[in-house]
Amino acid sequence: MKRTATTFAALCLTATAATAEVAPADVMYEDGAIAASLTGAAGNADQGRKIMTDKSMGNCVSCHAAQAYSDVPFPGEVGPVLDGAGSRWTEAELRGLVVNPKVMFEGTVMPAFYKVDGFTRPGDAYTGKAAPADLPPLLSRPRSRTWLPFS
Ligand code: HEC
Repeated sequence: MKRTATTFAALCLTATAATAEVAPADVMYEDGAIAASLTGAAGNADQGRKIMTDKSMGNCVSCHAAQAYSDVPFPGEVGPVLDGAGSRWTEAELRGLVVNPKVMFEGTVMPAFYKVDGFTRPGDAYTGKAAPADLPPLLSRPRSRTWLPFS
């Protein structure tokens, strides 16, 4: 089956409420890859597409173009075009890339979407203030978020 980056975003980041979730601090990497789903739940391509294209969620489109969401205007060019990413990378590598790409690409500008510590200068959304002590991950189960990701 051909995999897409969208599927993998969903695979990593969606879960049903009843499923156990591996906490960010407990994620195990092997050369940047994560062997198994962190939620135990299967991916959902539709949900993945929503996460990738929604500004309040993954907003992957701000840096990555892809055929799968060519209907979304003005994709960013900071990151590589994601077409074919499902063939270039294994499932475990893609999971690691979304959860914390800085493990594989040290110093990358791509945000770590499931990380809660080790940020350089975390901010509190657009307030110009420092983030509160405990930062939630950017993406996990559906929930709201009020702070900015970059580190
Ligand atoms: C701030 C910009 C930015 C955002 C937002 C971003 N990325 Fe990236 N991404 C990058 C860059 C830059 C790279 C290349 C890695 C490097 O060398 O720094 C990359 C690499 C990747 C790769 C490997 C690329 C390939 O084709 O080989 C995948 C897959 C990926 N990103 C998926 C995602 C997903 C899924 C999201 C959203 C959940 C996302 N990215 C959000 C900047 C971004």
